[in-house]
Amino acid sequence: MRKWLLGGLVLLLVLCGGGVAALVYFFARPSLDVRADFEHPLKVPPLATSTVDAQGRRVFDLRAEPGDSDFGHGATRTWGYNGAYLGPTLRAHRGEPVVVNVRNALAESTTVHWHGMHLPAAMDGGPHRPIPSGGSFQAAWTVDQPAATLWYHPHPSERTETQVYRGLAGLFLVDDDEPAQRALPHDYGVDDIPVLVQDKEFDGAQLSMSGRFGSDIGVLGDEILVNGTPGAYLDVRSELVRLRLVNASTARIYNFALADGRPFALVGTDGGLLERPAMTGHVRLSVGERAEIVVALRPGERVALRSVRALGGDLESRFNGGQDAFDILQLRAAATLTPATLPKTLVRIPRLDPAQAEQTRTFEFQGREINGEGMDMGRVDAVVVKDTVEVWNVSNGHGTPHSFHIHDVQFQVLKVDGQAPPPELSGWKDTIFLEPRQHYSVIAKFADYADPTTAYMFHCHVLKHEDEGMMGQFVVVERGQQPRLGHG
Ligand code: C2O
Ligand code: CU
Ligand code: CU
Repeated sequence: MRKWLLGGLVLLLVLCGGGVAALVYFFARPSLDVRADFEHPLKVPPLATSTVDAQGRRVFDLRAEPGDSDFGHGATRTWGYNGAYLGPTLRAHRGEPVVVNVRNALAESTTVHWHGMHLPAAMDGGPHRPIPSGGSFQAAWTVDQPAATLWYHPHPSERTETQVYRGLAGLFLVDDDEPAQRALPHDYGVDDIPVLVQDKEFDGAQLSMSGRFGSDIGVLGDEILVNGTPGAYLDVRSELVRLRLVNASTARIYNFALADGRPFALVGTDGGLLERPAMTGHVRLSVGERAEIVVALRPGERVALRSVRALGGDLESRFNGGQDAFDILQLRAAATLTPATLPKTLVRIPRLDPAQAEQTRTFEFQGREINGEGMDMGRVDAVVVKDTVEVWNVSNGHGTPHSFHIHDVQFQVLKVDGQAPPPELSGWKDTIFLEPRQHYSVIAKFADYADPTTAYMFHCHVLKHEDEGMMGQFVVVERGQQPRLGHG
């Protein structure tokens, strides 16, 4: 009799537990599957106008301001640079001195950070130097790094997620004289297309940030904007089109693929071109990462760029959008296409040697902390000697997806869980996805700029995590120098 009772109790518990699990599963909408109508021509952000000043510097002006945008829901209140949503594409050549005058016409303070750019800490736009409402800031540095797809976005303390989500983001393209750049499609807006991808959640006409039930990474919107365009298509007139993919979302991880599964060529990562094109069927980008891909098209066809399942099938991955699949951009090939061929080799990437590393550091990502500590603007987490090489071992021992970004440098991935990195991690990187339960080893040279008074950041680029303190600081000093934060 007691046995029966116990059995019944267990059965009841299992049934209730199952019911709860089913409810959770239902509310989590764990497998979003959205096919878009592709009704709008893809907007391409305009190239920023610039002037050259008396010292030969290229001068840009950016004004962060509020505006109204039409995403098909009526007038949506958004923020942008020099416009209502996103910002113009800044473009400069390697070796060029640049100046960017930033004005803040928002009702709250902001900063502008040049993501992926190698530059002095004082110009980096981190959270230490907020630009107050109505204020301005002048960033000036000399661009000196390989041609790459970089981007800019706000980086104020605890407000980064909201400000980026509202629309503050733009591209910064670096050019150089590598022949491969001209051998690849390179006509901006024609066969060389920025594809800045963001997911949004709407409440009526307004952007909402309520977030998906069960998500530990923040907003996972069910509508996709590319360069601010909902349901975007692109008319293509050449056999090859280069897409500069930028994950400018706040949380979502994309796994880019073509709807018919055809392979495409991965030609570049965050900090520049690969040594040679790598044919692949998909490329996964966490927040802040970029990839340059070249897609081959046949006359008259239409094929959609989609995001396919990005993570494993466990419940936590599902809650964090890992099973979602949705359309991003339709490519529409003209009836006749200009012939184009893909170069076989691209650039040479000098490899950093771990035997030369002066320091090896370990960073463990958990919850909202790195090595058990939250962000503290008064604490220096790493003092790096200028012009030295360091190996940073970064791991995510838990189930929540994170990403890892270092300011100032482009690094190389040495190992992913002890193995050689895949093609998408084989070039210059400034941000990598920290897949749950994986270990990464990266190597960087902290060249050129020392400033004991100003820190650079390293952090999780899931913006909610960053705002909640998943960020640390490093200071680059001359050998023998001590950091003195805030004494600049
Ligand atoms: Cu894209 Cu510290 O940021
Ligand atoms: Cu950055
Ligand atoms: Cu994180």
